[in-house]
Amino acid sequence: MLKIGALVSGGGTNLQAIMDAVDSGDIDGKIVTVVSNRKDAYALERAKKNNIETAWISKKQFSSVDEYEDALIEHFKSRDVGLIVFAGFMVILTSKFTDAFKNKIINIHPSLIPSFCGQGFYGLKVHEAALEKGVKVTGATVHFVDSGADTGPIIAQKAVEVEEGDTPEILQKRVMEQAEWVIFPEAVRLFAEGKLIVENNIVRRVE
Ligand code: GRF
Repeated sequence: MLKIGALVSGGGTNLQAIMDAVDSGDIDGKIVTVVSNRKDAYALERAKKNNIETAWISKKQFSSVDEYEDALIEHFKSRDVGLIVFAGFMVILTSKFTDAFKNKIINIHPSLIPSFCGQGFYGLKVHEAALEKGVKVTGATVHFVDSGADTGPIIAQKAVEVEEGDTPEILQKRVMEQAEWVIFPEAVRLFAEGKLIVENNIVRRVE
């Protein structure tokens, strides 16, 4: 059974969607550890309620990014995880970390990549930018993580309509409900079943 590790920074609704899919048996795996860079992230409470080990590992505890990433790598390797999910994780890690788990890290991003992604596009800022541009459709993307910001191979995307009168907050909620909480657990399920193959930076789904 696939051992899954998670990195989180915030409320953890995406983590919740994955925990629910594990509990219902949809995902053939087990979340073994949830790590936050923020001590007060509500995602840690959600994990504790599910009897999952939690840890706080932050850059602040180390004198360099290198040491921080060493600690994260050691944490996940010692727990033998086969997949790491970035479930609302707001830190960009270097190739040191991403190469240690190549094609074994999955991120959720709240836009249709390559729109509104990369450095500076996180949280509500993504939805603010979408509304400022006046796009009529936005959505979410699940992708493997490489050393760039939101540049890794795309696993799944789902479109969501922008509606008249949307605020960034309203749009964020609709994108989460209609797209993120649907495609993120689905991507983890496919990964756990060995159905995602990466070739030349393109994800192919095999049956
Ligand atoms: C989500 O919109 C996710 O796509 C983005 O940050 C938000 C985190 O929400 N990266 P949550 O912590 O999963 O509730």
